[in-house]
This record gives sequence, structure tokens and C-alpha cells, in this order.
Amino acid sequence: AFVVTDACVRCKYTDCVAVCPVDCFREGPNFLAIDPDECIDCSLCVAECPVDAIFPGDEVPEQYRDYIVLNAELAKSWPPITERKAPPDDHAEWASVNHKIKLIER
Ligand code: SF4
Ligand code: F3S
Repeated sequence: AFVVTDACVRCKYTDCVAVCPVDCFREGPNFLAIDPDECIDCSLCVAECPVDAIFPGDEVPEQYRDYIVLNAELAKSWPPITERKAPPDDHAEWASVNHKIKLIER
């Protein structure tokens, strides 16, 4: 399955959700997760993300491997999101910040 990683935290541009043919994105307060049981590995979402937050599971950068289990865990409790929406007001301030995993709200 594909995995949403660090760059998405507090940016949450949501361009990705509109292209997913199986609607497997799940929405939290300041991050999105992909449900690995639903993702069909089509890769369409990758190019949509303006901050390159999405990777195939076997290509997730070493420092962001924790996001693989995190996507699976969060996707279980978060609702689906299938339509694009406006990002947080302060998204630009967070776009180039790294290691935001502790900032994810449940
Ligand atoms: Fe959806 Fe395809 Fe992205 Fe998986 S790889 S989350 S199926 S758009
Ligand atoms: Fe996040 Fe990129 Fe989608 S910032 S919401 S993975 S378009």
C-alpha cells in the first residue's frame, strides 16, 4: 500500500483524495492516512501532493518508516475523505518543516 508521510502533517492539501479510485484516504484533524487494506497501489495520488508526502510502502524514507504502521492505525478510526478542501490557514509555515510526527492530532 501507499503511505502518507511527514510532509502532510499540518499541510493537508487534500489534492490526493480527489484522484483515488477506491476512496481509501481517511481524514484526521491535521493529517491524512491511507487505509492499507483498501489501497490498490495505483500510484495516482503521488503526483498530486504538492509536498511529496506519499510513497509506496517499500520506498518510504528510512526516517519516516514509523508512518507505515501509523497510517494503518489511524485509518481504522478516521472517517473517509473524498473531496478536496482548503488546507489549514498556516499550511505554508509547515510545508518545509521536517519530523512533525509528534504534532499529529488524533
Ligand atoms: Fe488511492 Fe491509488 Fe493512492 Fe492507493 S495509490 S491511496 S489506491 S490513489
Ligand atoms: Fe497530505 Fe499531500 Fe494529500 S499534503 S493531504 S498527502 S495532497
